[in-house]
Amino acid sequence: MAKTPLRVAVTGAAGQIGYSLLFRIANGDMLGKDQPVILQLLEIDNEKAQKALKGVMMEIDDCAFPLLAGMTAHSDPMEAFKDADFALLVGARPRGPGMERKDLLEANAQIFTVQGKALDAVASRNVKVLVVGNPANTNAYIAMKSAPSLPAKNFTAMLRLDHNRALSQVATKLGKPVGSIEKMAVWGNHSPTMYADYRFATIDGQSVKDAINDDAWNRDTFLPTVGKRGAAIIDARGASSAASAANAAIDHMHDWHLGTAGKWTTMGIPSDGSYGIPEGTMFGFPVTVENGEYKIVQGLEIDAFSQERINLTLKELTEEREGVAHLLA
Ligand code: NAD
Ligand code: LMR
Repeated sequence: MAKTPLRVAVTGAAGQIGYSLLFRIANGDMLGKDQPVILQLLEIDNEKAQKALKGVMMEIDDCAFPLLAGMTAHSDPMEAFKDADFALLVGARPRGPGMERKDLLEANAQIFTVQGKALDAVASRNVKVLVVGNPANTNAYIAMKSAPSLPAKNFTAMLRLDHNRALSQVATKLGKPVGSIEKMAVWGNHSPTMYADYRFATIDGQSVKDAINDDAWNRDTFLPTVGKRGAAIIDARGASSAASAANAAIDHMHDWHLGTAGKWTTMGIPSDGSYGIPEGTMFGFPVTVENGEYKIVQGLEIDAFSQERINLTLKELTEEREGVAHLLA
């Protein structure tokens, strides 16, 4: 018997990430090839954006996706999030050349307060929310705080692009396929302060750390390359990453919904106090997922270098949070 369609709300649907994301959701890449979906698309209340959204929807129609059970366009989050089972909050102002992510904090905080309240009011009580729009961790924190009747654990931020970037850099360094690597972790904020950590990773069952055996490469090449990859792409493309960001969003939601079969991935989630990260901080952790519930990988040793890096990214997140506290009062 065919499954009941799941409702997927996507904001910023006419943007560049949206253009790489919607077709893959409708194709079953996110929730499974046997799972019908209804797309509920949100764009700003502006003639140009709404017209562009209609154009994207015409193209989606023209793909004749067998799994697409419905599709609607909205300018009001109270309509777009109605009964949503999944919400991908992509819409935000992207960073341009020379801009720091922190510059965007205030403008985006406004958007995520409104959207958090709307989710609180009308979404499914089990809605799984992924915030992609930057600064993703703090935006997710704001949405979570603006939705007090929903469980805090339903709100997550996207660290998966950083995780995938880390996998790719290690695979290239060791000349082996990405698929041979397990147990990668990324801690903290989706920003250059993130701490991509391959100390526990294995490649074909062997220790990645031992195979690389070069702390200077970790510190001086790997961490800056992964941390500043977003800026490098903006510099090269003249626009921020889009297809890789959409791919990471698909990976994140896919694994949250369908599980990781015991394997590690990275999600930005509200801390439960693990590893000394204050409760409620929206922080990247290594997790496993089973039956739609993520669990932080416990018991990992945090050496002095790692603690220093974790402290740095936590400090930045704490400052971002303090920067928007007045909006949540
Ligand atoms: P874009 O400018 O191409 O598209 C954003 C779209 O969002 C626009 O169409 C805009 O009209 C819409 N929008 C803005 N405010 C909105 C609102 N309140 N409600 C609904 N729609 C709204 O940008 P993009 O390249 O698609 O990037 C989107 C966001 O994702 C940016 O913040 C970018 O920095 C971020 N991003 C995050 C990651 C990550 O790993 N977390 C990676 C890449 C990009
Ligand atoms: C990325 O990591 O590619 C995005 O967050 C874009 C950015 O501003 O870095």
